[in-house]
Amino acid sequence: MLGMIFTELVEMVEDTFSPELADEILTAANLPNGGAYTAVGYYNAEEILSLVTLLSEKTGTPVPDLVQAFGRYLFNSFTRSHAELLADKHSLFDLLATLDNDIHKEVLRLYSEATLPTFRVISQSSDCMELEYRSKNHLEPLAIGLIEGAGNYFGHQQLIISQQPGTGSNDATVFRVQI
Ligand code: HEM
Repeated sequence: MLGMIFTELVEMVEDTFSPELADEILTAANLPNGGAYTAVGYYNAEEILSLVTLLSEKTGTPVPDLVQAFGRYLFNSFTRSHAELLADKHSLFDLLATLDNDIHKEVLRLYSEATLPTFRVISQSSDCMELEYRSKNHLEPLAIGLIEGAGNYFGHQQLIISQQPGTGSNDATVFRVQI
């Protein structure tokens, strides 16, 4: 997994909880490189899970809730670090419908070893979109948090997002997003 994701997670812990807690978790996780992540390096995805699990133990917040909150935080920082990728996006559904062919395609060009999910629009109306998410990483809470972050960016304060298993393969989940 791309180092940027780790550095952002550590930043979220520093901002939302405290720099001391971030240090504590990095020390307790006993990571191979001492948790000295670089944004452009690649790291084992299990490391992130061990950090989030420790954070959950320390804060009493369930892991999926932390991952979802991280998704919101991450989108917000993408709006600064990757503003150019959002420049021609005019609505939440426009952004979601073009993720694979546009934003994530560009992400892959920038970071060739990124492991990205795939998204497919199943149905769309003016206020509702059904979006199929496929990834062997099963980061549904991260996807929901990112969708919420993107909704917020386009001025939707309260999205209604539900999820159900997709058909055909274990890897698929369908999100229903109502604005
Ligand atoms: C400017 C906007 C965005 C940028 C720059 C971006 C970039 C990235 C990057 C760098 C990764 C990590 C790849 C890796 O660690 O190997 C990632 C993963 C991911 N992205 Fe995006 N992304 C953006 C928007 C979104 C949005 C709006 C969604 C919500 C549907 C989304 C869903 C995901 C998910 C769920 C993953 C985790 C990987 C997986 O599920 O297998 N991204 N993205």
